[in-house]
Amino acid sequence: MYRSHNCGELNASNINTEVTLAGWVQKSRDKGFMNWVDLRDRYGITQLIFDESRTDKTVFELAKTLGREFVIQVKGTVIEREAKNKNIPTGEIEILVSELTILNSALTPPFTIEDETDGGEDIRMKYRYLDIRRNPVKNSLLFRHKVAMEVRKYLSDLDFCEVETPYLIKSTPEGARDFVVPSRMNEGQFYALPQSPQTFKQLLMVGGMDKYFQIVKCFRDEDLRADRQPEFTQIDCEMAFVEQEDILNVFEGLTRHLLKEIKGIEVEKFPRITYDYAMKTYGNDKPDIRFGMKFGELNEFAQHKEFPVFNSAELVVGIAVPGAGNYTRKEIDGLIDWVKRPQVGASGMVYVKCNEDGTYKSSVDKFYDNDDLANWAKATEANPGDMIFVLSGPANKTRGQLSALRMELATRLGLRNPEEFAPLWVVDFPLLELDEESGRYHAMHHPFTSPKPEDMALLETEPGKVRANAYDMVLNGNEIGGGSIRIHDKTTQQLMFKYLGFTEEEAKAQFGFLMDAFQFGAPPHGGLAFGLDRLVAILGGQETIRDFIAFPKNNSGRDVMIDAPAAIDDAQLKELRIKVDIA
Ligand code: AMO
Repeated sequence: MYRSHNCGELNASNINTEVTLAGWVQKSRDKGFMNWVDLRDRYGITQLIFDESRTDKTVFELAKTLGREFVIQVKGTVIEREAKNKNIPTGEIEILVSELTILNSALTPPFTIEDETDGGEDIRMKYRYLDIRRNPVKNSLLFRHKVAMEVRKYLSDLDFCEVETPYLIKSTPEGARDFVVPSRMNEGQFYALPQSPQTFKQLLMVGGMDKYFQIVKCFRDEDLRADRQPEFTQIDCEMAFVEQEDILNVFEGLTRHLLKEIKGIEVEKFPRITYDYAMKTYGNDKPDIRFGMKFGELNEFAQHKEFPVFNSAELVVGIAVPGAGNYTRKEIDGLIDWVKRPQVGASGMVYVKCNEDGTYKSSVDKFYDNDDLANWAKATEANPGDMIFVLSGPANKTRGQLSALRMELATRLGLRNPEEFAPLWVVDFPLLELDEESGRYHAMHHPFTSPKPEDMALLETEPGKVRANAYDMVLNGNEIGGGSIRIHDKTTQQLMFKYLGFTEEEAKAQFGFLMDAFQFGAPPHGGLAFGLDRLVAILGGQETIRDFIAFPKNNSGRDVMIDAPAAIDDAQLKELRIKVDIA
């Protein structure tokens, strides 16, 4: 038996017990005649004491050879500590060691295994297994496990059945590129790794499984960001005989359950806003509603005056920043520079100080009088003491820029409290999105999403205006889940592929299996998928999902620990009949 207890569980109630512990040497303090060692495992730290006057001489000497991260086993007696540490559960006791076995030695770790480490991101990723020994990473993984367990429990109690779907499939078009896998047995042919189990979960509905879920890996070859990994995990769900309302209720219930169980927070019914409202009010389809700063559209009050910039703009729009009326010229200039950076791309910014006495001072006083500016203040819901910032230009672009500014200011003003949770639904997404480059429409969610029946007629005439039965769940400015009611009849699905520019042959070649299935009694169905990594990160008070993934990839999609991706040898290539030609 390697251990009788773990390193986190012994306390004053165990005094005088004989115990065996095993773990890693966190650190030792050698005072010559007395040597204290902190022994660490996943559960905590227990102090060991080697005392010249009470410890066997060979054991005492051996203890002096212990280095950081050595793996050891000790036997000894639990005794009361003289200097107690109230900060840890084992802080009242220590182990007077009688036997010591070195199970394995260790090289000096390349960074300190402490909560605050001296190791930078790169080195920690290269030695991720050492990083996992640190509390912040270990605790994130335990936290993730807890969330996943709650999800499984909640959904199983509602009769959802977890079904595994294949990883070696044919590509599903969900917007990103596929990762592909060559097939040795089928020369010149490739599998694709699923971007999601979308078509399979729909086939499970045709199969009568009724309520499906799966905590499942998905693979997308897309550009990476803090909230994106090339392989990530979804809580993927589908239900038969449901309308949008049923789905929103079930998964709002799940999210509310998680917030309560994991964070101890009770939330009211989630607000629901339409995609159009979100874009107009926050410039963004995943608004952070922990704070206000809603957009005020100012065309009516700012155009037809003498200011040519606003007169020629499609949209003039502003936000009132609470309490920012006292920003200095330097601070304002700093923000103007910030919105002019290429990442944001504004050409300039107008500001209006809302004085406490109800007057205004703006950068465009030459063109607007106090009454004009009072209208701006009304439209942006500004109060005395606030500052209004105004951008103008093409509508979509300007909304995007103001949204970036809104988020930046909220961060600077400390309005994005990670322990506050503001979930909402964004509904009525457009069915189709125009790709400016190709001039073609593609599915905003995916091609299996059902148009709103009342908008069907617009498909021929104004496809961009057709709304879908599609919805996203947003939490603190992040899209944590999305889904839709699906098309479940062959004719509509065929029509949809036609609108997406597929020829009949292409549609049949790629999705014949789904359309065939629809002919064998497909029930009405719909579902959604949460991004588990994102959900866990946000519940954990962070937005970088890497910290909640055991072995993540870096921003170039590399695993620097195992050094992947990597070339494969010629024999392997030959077997797969692949020629590599790197120009
Ligand atoms: P969607 O593409 O919206 O929907 O994905 C669902 C959720 O998965 C998360 N997500 C990601 N997380 C980390 N890294 C990524 N690269 C990444 N991409 C997406 C997001 C997102 O909300 N099959 C549909 C779901 C459905 O219709 O039921 C789908 O995959 O949190």
